[in-house]
Amino acid sequence: MSERRVAVIGTGYVGLTTGACLASLGHRVVCADADPGKVERLRRAEVDILEPGLPELVQDGLKSDRLAFVGDSPAAVRDADVVFLCLPTPMGAGGAADLAAVEAVAGEIRTELPPGAVVVNKSTVPVGTSERVAALLARPDVAVVSNPEFLREGRAVHDFLHPDRIVVGSADAEAARRVAELYADLAAPLVVTDAASAELTKYAANFFLAMKLSFANNLATLCERFGADIGDVTAGIGHDPRIGAAFLQPGPGWGGSCLPKDTHALLSVCEAAGIDFPLLRATIETNVEHQRRLVERVAAQSAGGDGSLAGVRLALYGLAFKAGTSDLRDSPALAIARQLRERGAELYAYDPALCETRPDLSDLLTLTDDPLAAADGAAACLVLTEWPDFLELDWDAVAARLDGRIVHDFRNFLDHDRLDRAGLVRQSIGSPY
Ligand code: UGA
Repeated sequence: MSERRVAVIGTGYVGLTTGACLASLGHRVVCADADPGKVERLRRAEVDILEPGLPELVQDGLKSDRLAFVGDSPAAVRDADVVFLCLPTPMGAGGAADLAAVEAVAGEIRTELPPGAVVVNKSTVPVGTSERVAALLARPDVAVVSNPEFLREGRAVHDFLHPDRIVVGSADAEAARRVAELYADLAAPLVVTDAASAELTKYAANFFLAMKLSFANNLATLCERFGADIGDVTAGIGHDPRIGAAFLQPGPGWGGSCLPKDTHALLSVCEAAGIDFPLLRATIETNVEHQRRLVERVAAQSAGGDGSLAGVRLALYGLAFKAGTSDLRDSPALAIARQLRERGAELYAYDPALCETRPDLSDLLTLTDDPLAAADGAAACLVLTEWPDFLELDWDAVAARLDGRIVHDFRNFLDHDRLDRAGLVRQSIGSPY
């Protein structure tokens, strides 16, 4: 594989993983970020996100001089053959993707790009953004390629180095080939296509995953009604390779920095185009309804006669949107906490990933770094993130501190017998067990 000079603009979990992994594949990478404090920390190999393997890769890259960090995106791109835009595209007005960061950087780098450079959109962006970036760059010698990422938070390095596919799309086939060559050492099927197809692939993937989860959570309701077990039903269908077993684990709803934002962005794109996509709407609505149902269940068991949870203390175990991350963005745990709080509940929460970061959630709940303190006098315990630590908890001690007996296992992963021995009643989703 031939070494390329690569610039990566944005060092969030996608940008930093992309930069560090491309350096590990033998390319020369300069990463730029507008936050000077972050750039300083990265130069000392201090990574402030929870991504297994990433600190080591950053350290190796710095040591071998294959990876550098700068605060200035024009400086990063001046020597680059390929420039990756890994910028936030948050949910903007009406659910649409907010492209302000992408557009601002395109403006900043346009005159600095060397002749013949390729600009790659890795950020999740609506169809047509490649053309929009090309128009902003106004550089006929610079091609724009869409190369969406499929990295899961908490597994980003693994997913980058072991991709199940690589998608590159551009109106310029030669530029797409140059981007694909960066990954030549990774054995993965390659989909080379036009920009619109590559951009839509990313939304289609996240929509499909969200749809699977809404399906599983809905199916869980059916299981509860008919006394069936969701784990057995999903195992029963998952063995069919046309369905697949992955992404069918019921939970407190799907969240995180990507699935909610991308499904809403796709919906907004459809609405703007006058296309009705009932399946997409139902996928989003099912998630909201599922969480409402779980809150109802907690209220039905812990509320006073008036249905209010006023003054009822509840212990929340896990706030991160999934295990392996401290990320709270669009966390289902917080969505459920908000609804419980609106009904007057007093919430005490523990999450192993937040003991160090200690985010300020004081308007919603009291965060403790002791699971037993969170359980003190609580009417029930809600397990909202599937942290393996919770399997090892001293459940006898938790039982001694709880007022009530119910543990709502909204991740369906606790050991029923263990809780039973502690005198607790485990209630899972979609299962009598
Ligand atoms: C997601 C996609 O999985 C990645 O492929 C994609 O690249 C990424 O978004 C992105 O667009 O950048 P991520 O946001 O890290 O990755 O989160 P997931 O691991 O997909 O989990 C999403 C939500 O679904 C979480 O709340 C998780 O707890 C929930 N989930 C997942 C379930 O409830 N059940 C499952 O079986 C799987």
